[in-house]
Amino acid sequence: MRLKDYPISRRMFVGTLAATLAMVYLAPGRLRAADKELIVKAIPTSGEPLPVIGLGSSRTFDIGNDQTTLDGLVEVMEAFITNGGRVIDSSPMYGSAEQVIGELLKHTGKPDRLFAATKVWIDGKQAGIRQMEDSLRKWGLDRFDLMQIHNLRDWQTHLMTLRDWKAAGKIRYIGITTSHGRFHGDLETILRNEPFDFVQLSYNIEDRSVEERLLPLASERGIAVLANRPFQRGALFSKVKGKELPEWAADFDCSSWGQFFLKFVVSHPAVTCVIPATSKLKHMQDNMAAGFGRLPDAALRQRMVLYFDSL
Ligand SMILES: NC(=O)c1ccc[n+]([C@@H]2O[C@H](COP(=O)([O-])OP(=O)(O)OC[C@H]3O[C@@H](n4cnc5c(N)ncnc54)[C@H](OP(=O)(O)O)[C@@H]3O)[C@@H](O)[C@H]2O)c1
Repeated sequence: MRLKDYPISRRMFVGTLAATLAMVYLAPGRLRAADKELIVKAIPTSGEPLPVIGLGSSRTFDIGNDQTTLDGLVEVMEAFITNGGRVIDSSPMYGSAEQVIGELLKHTGKPDRLFAATKVWIDGKQAGIRQMEDSLRKWGLDRFDLMQIHNLRDWQTHLMTLRDWKAAGKIRYIGITTSHGRFHGDLETILRNEPFDFVQLSYNIEDRSVEERLLPLASERGIAVLANRPFQRGALFSKVKGKELPEWAADFDCSSWGQFFLKFVVSHPAVTCVIPATSKLKHMQDNMAAGFGRLPDAALRQRMVLYFDSL
């Protein structure tokens, strides 16, 4: 693997045998030794490093006022934070998810250097401002790190507000999102013409359409990429049910299908961070494990695609 092709933290090259041995003796739920950190990649517009595994919240955190489910999610959030997770993504579109994140963070405490990302998803300038202020209250924050325009909705209006908010220090980065092919043409035009810090789009081993134009464009324009739907909303697991992982998955420290799917996404040179969603502790531990050890190089990535497509 050439560094030029994969401008990822040097940590990905750290030998993994010691890490694997160390993990065996760690406290339950903690996947790493104190001196081992999640792989990070830099946000192009600032150079700020972000861990490559983040957390989504659509559906999994939309639990209303269900206290029992909330108690279960506290463990999930704890495992995220204990293992070095910092990037949390939400949206007012996700029902009670933002409120639930606020509740969870009250229980767990905020991670060091929380990277809070949400979205504006409404028409109109004043409605957008009210919605973003409401989101701050729900999360229990006084500023967001990243505010994204959800699915391009009323994007010209919100972009002006977001520029004002960024200049005033109320947000640090501006982004725009889409999912599963919707608006890809429009998004491309917008990214070519307007400066954005982040773009969020769907990318997984089955849906690779963004490899053609949007990911190369993000690299060319110096835009950080948050990858959503890394498991195709969970559908990828049905496809591999009962199927063995190939033995060469060990070459990039991968021991589960979840890690296989996540390592595929974050090893793309243009992807900064992936945001899988889960409501289960064991899935959270699995997902965080994908942020440690080696990542596949270009040849292995090709092999992963051929293997997956053959199933
Ligand atoms: N336009 C947009 O801005 C946009 C669009 C789509 C998504 N997003 C963001 O991206 C996030 C991720 O996308 P997504 O939630 O649609 O789908 P996803 O992350 O691809 O899949 C989530 C599903 O995978 C399951 N899962 C998670 N980890 C697993 C593991 N290790 N093993 C087995 N199953 C596992 C979860 O079930 P369990 O609860 O059982 O673990 C859940 O049903 C969203 O939550 C949202 O924050 C944004």
